[in-house]
Amino acid sequence: MCGIVGYVGNKTAQNVLLSGLKRLEYRGYDSAGIATLDEDKEPHIARSVGKISELEQVLSAKPHTGHLGIGHTRWATHGGVTVTNAHPHHVGNVFLVHNGIIENYKELKEQLSSYEFKSDTDTEVLAALIDSNYKDGASLKDAVAKALKEVRGTYGIAAFSPNEPDTIVVARLGSPLIIGLGKDETIIASDASALLGYTREAIYLNDGEIAVCNKDGAEVFNLNLKHLSPNPETIEGDVEQIQKGGYKHFLLKEIMEQATTLPNTLSGRVDAKNGTMHLGGPNLTTKEMRDVRHIVIVGCGTAYYAGLLASYYMEQLIPDITTEVVIASEYRYRSFHLPKNSLALIVSQSGETADTLACLREIKKRGIKTLGIVNVIGSTIAREVDGGTYVHAGPEISVASTKAFTAQVVTMLMFAGMIASYHGGNAELIHKFAKELSILPTEIEKCLNDHRAEMEQLAKKYAKYNDALYLGRDTAYPIALEGALKLKEISYIHAEGYASGELKHGPIALVDETFFEVFDILDNWLYDKSLGGLHEVRARGGKAIVLTNSKADIEADDIVRVDSKIELLMPILLNTLQQLFAYYVAVERGNDVDQPRNLAKSVTVE
Ligand code: M6R
Repeated sequence: MCGIVGYVGNKTAQNVLLSGLKRLEYRGYDSAGIATLDEDKEPHIARSVGKISELEQVLSAKPHTGHLGIGHTRWATHGGVTVTNAHPHHVGNVFLVHNGIIENYKELKEQLSSYEFKSDTDTEVLAALIDSNYKDGASLKDAVAKALKEVRGTYGIAAFSPNEPDTIVVARLGSPLIIGLGKDETIIASDASALLGYTREAIYLNDGEIAVCNKDGAEVFNLNLKHLSPNPETIEGDVEQIQKGGYKHFLLKEIMEQATTLPNTLSGRVDAKNGTMHLGGPNLTTKEMRDVRHIVIVGCGTAYYAGLLASYYMEQLIPDITTEVVIASEYRYRSFHLPKNSLALIVSQSGETADTLACLREIKKRGIKTLGIVNVIGSTIAREVDGGTYVHAGPEISVASTKAFTAQVVTMLMFAGMIASYHGGNAELIHKFAKELSILPTEIEKCLNDHRAEMEQLAKKYAKYNDALYLGRDTAYPIALEGALKLKEISYIHAEGYASGELKHGPIALVDETFFEVFDILDNWLYDKSLGGLHEVRARGGKAIVLTNSKADIEADDIVRVDSKIELLMPILLNTLQQLFAYYVAVERGNDVDQPRNLAKSVTVE
């Protein structure tokens, strides 16, 4: 969703801000802008609707020369997508960019009736509130702190004033802000990827903190202006990881690189020889691992489906634990009860998803231990959980989640393998999973290389359809759901995932020659039952694509057969085919593959 960048130093701020905003493009946005202060302390604003390239055009006509500035990519919440609603907002002596939502902005707007508001945004109201406190000798920091005490909602903000021309004030509550500490420069961003290449040293602001930044660094305070001394942390990753690396789209790069990122997920955690798995991050005592009886897995979208697939594996591996997988946006408002000896796995690529974060906090209130299954290092969920494990998929830039799904499933599977060994789990089965995990990267690589061209051809054939059903049984069911999500979000084809056994309970009524169906069929003990539905669909004119590792004769319109040593983890391989299929369908339909319409990479508001 929205992104913030700020710069104070010796470089031309405009250039740093634009390059930072480009790095944040992947989060999803509909307008952008920057505000800078020039050498004569004169402020300048440039804003535009659409892509950063539009903003660049505006700036090329009238470049900004100053060395201090703030920038923003906006994903509209209050007010339409217009230049007037784009950030930065300027009220009185205050220039402001803001991520999040000010819930009481209407009340505040009434209180601030002496101001003339130009936009429909909550952010302009916050700028006015800060300006109204910026008087009687108060510094910008004082004014921001005072204003934020009146605010209900969430925010990550960066503000400056021509009155204090060397300073940017930032603050956060529920929306990330990172302060990069460079040599004679300070770079602020809502996402660490914007800091890569400038500095590795950063302060991750915590909720309820405010910082005063200048080119020599930052001073951090709480909202009562008590001075704090946070330790700077190291930012991981490098610039190459957030570039396309020769691929046309980030999405294709991220699908194809699963074979190289997965070893980072597995590294030091799986011993295929001895058949053991171990994760250090959860930091559980032997007693805690033995005592756990219930595992709740929380996530949204793809993270939820990863949890669902992992729960099937957990049930196979751990004989005496019940697992429950919940959608965060529902669970946060349910009157849920978790038995004593529960553990909660909080699954999130971004580590910033508002609903998932809210669940984490609700679960913690109930005294249940929470463990993060998170990709983005230093993200809010990673910081608030009691323990956890990074999935180490590396930066995922494309809005559609692909390599993170695989890494999340694998991480939760390793967690299950570890817990299973304390619960009398079947050692042979644990060993088999460990062996398959250890060869998964090479098998994924083979699968992608063997079938990439085939999936592209299939995509060309099916791109004209407007409706699809994805069907799977047992561990292929979660990937049927995930396959349908991937297709709909980037190709805009209406797609639904179902458990194969549900077909006759309703969805078959939809099937005719205008539909195609993707059957994920595993060559396992449920094989015959998984074929059910295939004939019914074809008899009604529906076109059937089968993705399978079976070598048996199957009647279908198209069959993609995966030849692999992998058995238990076959759903992961079939899912990589679905990822390729969705990608090529979206390309064929001419869509914006990496930034599909209406979607944001991290959903930081409800
Ligand atoms: O960052 P998170 O994993 O918490 O995000 C959860 C969902 O928003 C995300 O998986 C979403 O469904 C993706 N667009 C799926 O491709």
